[in-house]
Amino acid sequence: MAILITGSAGFIGFSIAKNLLKKKENVIGVDNLNNYYSKKLKLKRISFLKKSKNFKFFKLDCSSSKFKNFFFKKKITMVIHLAAEVGVRNSFYNPNIYYQNNLRSFFNVLEICKKKKSNLIFASSSSVYGSNDKTYFSESDDTSSPLSFYAATKKCNEIMAYSYTKNYKFSSIGIRFFNVYGPWGRPDMSIYKFTNLILSKKKLPLYGSGKQLRDFTYIDDVVNLIDIIINKLNSERKGYFDIFNSGKGNSISILNLLKILSSKLKINPKIQKKEKQMGDVFYTNSSSKKIKNKLNFEPNTSLKKGIDLFLDWYFEIGSKIK
Ligand SMILES: NC(=O)c1ccc[n+]([C@@H]2O[C@H](COP(=O)([O-])OP(=O)(O)OC[C@H]3O[C@@H](n4cnc5c(N)ncnc54)[C@H](O)[C@@H]3O)[C@@H](O)[C@H]2O)c1
Repeated sequence: MAILITGSAGFIGFSIAKNLLKKKENVIGVDNLNNYYSKKLKLKRISFLKKSKNFKFFKLDCSSSKFKNFFFKKKITMVIHLAAEVGVRNSFYNPNIYYQNNLRSFFNVLEICKKKKSNLIFASSSSVYGSNDKTYFSESDDTSSPLSFYAATKKCNEIMAYSYTKNYKFSSIGIRFFNVYGPWGRPDMSIYKFTNLILSKKKLPLYGSGKQLRDFTYIDDVVNLIDIIINKLNSERKGYFDIFNSGKGNSISILNLLKILSSKLKINPKIQKKEKQMGDVFYTNSSSKKIKNKLNFEPNTSLKKGIDLFLDWYFEIGSKIK
């Protein structure tokens, strides 16, 4: 019996797989190894995981019938679905790939969970909150007005999962991730991207005023949250469904983030002001009340410590992977 992790060559999928393998779980990883960012980084993550004999990897596309039929025949205890077309901006120009990778794939995953009666953990996103004007975004807030098609696919995933969970008697939990960062992270995301640009002394495009606020979550906090959610799902009745934020509720402006990074790297960034981009929300700030109350969990890595841990990894490994 094994836990299936889709998107296992990706940042969060890799980090969760690494932790489960450390606990001697059997893990099956699936990824289509798309080229949204460095394929080399994805392959490095997979070869790291392959050091464990409990890890098996299959290059498959979750939107294909081949993927679905393959797992109809496998023994799996749980699905952790993280594979998705990521990034808000690209969804304005290529919505079809978001339909394919985030909706068709999700349907296949639900069909697998229905057939195998396996519980499901899936990735939603803070983007479902749209231009929420509350200080803290709470799971009970209205999320019916997403600003991008990416956000719309994530909201659809939540509704699709609810319907399958209730009708087909497996359980599922969706997690609304808030800007996850850390070692082995995503080069397209701010902390990694800014580090690359500052060190290369290239121009650093700053979209909008830079006063936008973002709530960052360190990867180990996400990994620990997933551990707790796995236990929660295993102890709940069939048909249980819930949604949780992953964030800490300590948002920071992009300008302040740049200040922290430039002081740690001891280089001033060459900022190039640009127009605000489509789909960008002014701020994200997670309420962590529900994870505290229902899961007795609180993300506890400070941004400064998390950035130090990221930079340690970056100088040792990340900067060598292009
Ligand atoms: N990182 C964040 O801050 C963040 C924030 C909000 C939501 N999320 C969500 O969390 C999940 C994981 O994000 P991540 O940061 O690890 O991204 P990632 O891009 O590093 O990982 C996603 C992986 O899925 C794979 N993939 C995409 N489409 C696929 C398909 N059809 N079949 C098989 N594999 C496919 C990609 O190749 C990639 O390796 C995603 O669903 C993302 O939308 C992440």
